[in-house]
Amino acid sequence: MSKVTVVGAGNVGATVANVLAHKDIVREVVLLDIKGDFAKGKALDSYQQASIDYYSTRLVGTDDYKDTANSDIVVITAGIPRKPGMSRDDLISTNAKIVGSVTKSILEHSEDPIIIIVSNPLDVMTYAAHKVSGLSDKKVFGMAGILDTARYRAFLSMELGVSVKDIQALLMGGHGDTMVPLPRYTNVAGIPVTDLISESRLDEIVERTKKGGGELVKLMGTSAWYAPGAAAAQMVAAIVRDEDRIFPVCARLNGEYGLNDIFLGVPVKLGKGGIKEVMELKLNEKEMADLNTSANHVKDVVDLFNTMGIS
Ligand code: NAI
Ligand code: 2OP
Repeated sequence: MSKVTVVGAGNVGATVANVLAHKDIVREVVLLDIKGDFAKGKALDSYQQASIDYYSTRLVGTDDYKDTANSDIVVITAGIPRKPGMSRDDLISTNAKIVGSVTKSILEHSEDPIIIIVSNPLDVMTYAAHKVSGLSDKKVFGMAGILDTARYRAFLSMELGVSVKDIQALLMGGHGDTMVPLPRYTNVAGIPVTDLISESRLDEIVERTKKGGGELVKLMGTSAWYAPGAAAAQMVAAIVRDEDRIFPVCARLNGEYGLNDIFLGVPVKLGKGGIKEVMELKLNEKEMADLNTSANHVKDVVDLFNTMGIS
């Protein structure tokens, strides 16, 4: 049974820990935050739920990295979330310092963990954590695509009045307004979504998806946590159970889609050990152009990060 550490016991981190505990598939979840008592409180509250919801996973709250020793998987959610009017990219300098120092501290106590990044701006924070860690790119990747695809699936379900369970969809690219939902890879119980929704309405749903995070920031004054937390927990579950799930994940590209030295959302096979395969789809001209636009945006933010001299 595995040990998982979640760094950052805020909205997203506490949700990851709680959802993961409910799955009852890991022995221990350590919730670490610079606000140690806050992490202890969240972990204790979650563990007190165990006898009601029936799970055995231990939850430990801490601000001491020694408690994270020998973690198999680490989920990093530490950092600041965006407020209304901010883009994810506005968070870069604060969160890059936090993600860099958290990654180093984790590696002082766990030799070769899998690291899943959640902190924003996601694609750049994943790039930064991979660079700082020196770990294999099969073991450092980011969560965004499952969340963005879940938002797309929710909007389609609301539009069609059908269960979200029957909607299969794929979305690629960076975790920002240039993300690329893919109607050609979207179906409802096998029926192409393009047979069910007009092109113009589908375009509106795609646009709402791209701005899905911002919609919630406007409503709540901070960013979302239930779906993000559940999405990261689903990635942990796929690894712990060696499920070989196909998920859109922010992964390093080594020539796939003609892109190099960039972390970007693409479909991967996720199981024991992390990313087993990056799947390369035959995108059409428009899809490829949209993916390149998204990649160029991510590259600009990576360039900005590289000029900041943060290591
Ligand atoms: P939050 O403010 O509720 O929690 C962040 C926590 O990080 C706080 O408890 C804070 O004390 C802690 N923290 C800050 N510096 C730390 C350090 N050096 N070491 C340990 N803990 C530290 O924020 P929330 O809503 O949980 O969001 C966390 C991050 O996740 C944000 O950057 C947000 O933008 C991002 N996010 C990413 C998503 C994605 O799809 N990738 C989705 C939702 C949020
Ligand atoms: C989200 O998409 C802000 O990345 C965060 O909800």
